[in-house]
Amino acid sequence: MIIEHLSKSREETITLGQHLAGHLKRGDIVCLFGELGSGKTTLTKGIAKGLRIEPDTVSSPSFVLLNIYEGKLPLYHFDLYRAENYKQVLSVGSEEYLYGEGVSVVEWAQRMGTLLPDDHLAVHFFHRKDDQRLIRISASGKRSRLLMEHLKL
Ligand SMILES: Nc1ncnc2c1ncn2[C@@H]1O[C@H](COP(=O)(O)OP(=O)(O)OP(=O)(O)O)[C@@H](O)[C@H]1O
Ligand SMILES: [Mg+2]
Repeated sequence: MIIEHLSKSREETITLGQHLAGHLKRGDIVCLFGELGSGKTTLTKGIAKGLRIEPDTVSSPSFVLLNIYEGKLPLYHFDLYRAENYKQVLSVGSEEYLYGEGVSVVEWAQRMGTLLPDDHLAVHFFHRKDDQRLIRISASGKRSRLLMEHLKL
């Protein structure tokens, strides 16, 4: 199952994140894939907004692999762009969070390698012309498939 959405603006991607957040539960994992500037942090801001976290506080400072925000649910925002190996990913306590009480959103999730839990929602971003981004959502497990069923409604 795949959902594709052509976002035509930053605001539209934020709205999509808010919509997604409305269906997220504790323990859910959303993995974001796509090149620099493709919209991963923008979607994360939308998810934050949907969890009643001030979206402007969400950013991806260099050398910080994990930021934690308290909202309706805790949001664990991983940005693994600068992660060099899985040991570095482990060193921030990633497993405790991924299998923890909040929602995990992981930018550059491919850097997680085998630490990446099987059941996750994958969101791929592709640049299109100007402010357009093709956003492709897919699921890879029981929970993420159920989540996608809800997203479609
Ligand atoms: N439709 C769109 N959706 C999302 N962002 C858009 C869109 N159109 C333009 N933009 C702009 O593209 C940029 C996306 O930046 P963002 O930080 O979200 O990317 P990123 O994928 O997190 O990059 P990085 O890999 O550097 O972390 C922002 O400047 C945003 O305003
Ligand atoms: Mg980013």
